[in-house]
Parts: sequence; C-alpha cells; structure tokens
Amino acid sequence: MTPLIMDHPLIQHKVTLIRDKNTGSKEFRELISEITMLMCYEATRDLPLKEVEIETPMAVTKSKVISGRKLAFVPILRAGIGMVDGILKLVPAAKVGHIGLYRDPATHQPVEYYCKLPNDISEREVVVLDPMLATGGSAIDAISLLKKNGVKTIKFMCIIAAPEGLEALTAAHPDVQIYCGAKDQKLNENKYIIPGLGDAGDRIFGTK
Ligand code: PRP
Ligand code: URA
Repeated sequence: MTPLIMDHPLIQHKVTLIRDKNTGSKEFRELISEITMLMCYEATRDLPLKEVEIETPMAVTKSKVISGRKLAFVPILRAGIGMVDGILKLVPAAKVGHIGLYRDPATHQPVEYYCKLPNDISEREVVVLDPMLATGGSAIDAISLLKKNGVKTIKFMCIIAAPEGLEALTAAHPDVQIYCGAKDQKLNENKYIIPGLGDAGDRIFGTK
C-alpha cells in the first residue's frame, strides 16, 4: 500500500515545532499528542457506521454512530507512549497493548524486551504507534509480532519517516497502511533521520 503522507497545514506547522532543538519536553509532549489527534482523524476515516434512531428536542430522526469494528492501539516503547493520550481522547473505548523494542546501538537492529497485548487482540483492528520510522526494523518486528498473535488488520502511524523505512516497511508488510506526518531526506551513518528531530524517546521523557 502506498504510504499516506499527511500534509495538512496544522500537522506541518506542529512538526516544525517538534523538530526545533529549543522545544522543551513539556511542549514536545503536547505537540506529539496534538499531531497524533490530527492524524487519527484520517486514520479512522474508514470506520464503519450504522444508523440509529434518536430523539432530538425537536423530532425523532435517524442518525449515524460508529459500529462494529473494535480498535486497539499499540505503542512501540518508549517513544510510542507519547502518542497514546492524544489518540485515546478521540477513541476512548479502544484497548491499548504495548510492545517494547530498543535499537541495538551497534547493529541498529530492534531487540524485543516487552509485549503485553489485550486478550482479544486477534478480533481487533490495530493501529501501531511510533513517532519515528528510521530503518523500519522496529515497526516491521512489532507488526510481525501482532500478526503472530492473529491480528489481521493493521495500520502504522508515525510522525516522521525516512524514505528507507517507508520502503522497508512497505516491502515487509504490503498489507499495512502507513500514515506519516512528514517524509524526511535520509538516514545518517548512525541510522538517525536527517533532518528528523533527534531521539524521540529522549525528547519526550527528558532523558538526555
Ligand atoms: C526509536 C523509535 C523507533 C525506532 C525507529 O526507538 O521510537 O521505535 O527508534 O528506528 P528503526 O526504524 O530504525 O527501528 P529507540 O530504539 O531509540 O528506543 P526508545 O524509544 O526506547 O528510545
Ligand atoms: N529513533 C529516533 O528516535 N530518532 C531517529 O532519528 C531514529 C530512530
């Protein structure tokens, strides 16, 4: 599936603010949350609706509500946690699973250290959350893990992606729709995104 680059002016404006090295952790977290809410609007566009009858103060009428498909959000730890509160504000009934992966500093390969998913994950449509898609290794492994747990419909939402990561993830999981706030230029020799925003986990949690 072709990745969807979400170039809404509000997203572009807020992405510029999180790229700025002078943006502190508090503002950075707030902006990540706001960008996720804006992206969620598009990522939930295909949710099915059903008609119900309601009574307004003026008349009885038919109106639509979301029906059927149950959602789960799965942030990739750590940085994906920063996207959870924004998306839950819009879809409060969704369940949340967690997958812990870190990139080995020498090989840049993802290493799994945690996985806790809702019991009924195989019956849910899953949106995987991670602000950064660099080589694509973490996203590919997280999605493979979800598929091993029986999940059939998966979307991946990131804020900044490198072309290398978009290509690798699309090749590994062609059935997964990618939603992305900005497509950057390249990876550097340490597999960091250029221009990017630095280490998303460190900027969210103030660990550097
Ligand atoms: C970052 C980011 C992604 C991963 C992307 O996490 O949040 O999970 O790197 O890189 P990739 O596409 O090359 O796999 P990191 O491994 O730094 O862990 P952290 O969130 O705990 O800091
Ligand atoms: N992880 C990050 O947090 N930033 C990058 O640029 C690449 C991977």
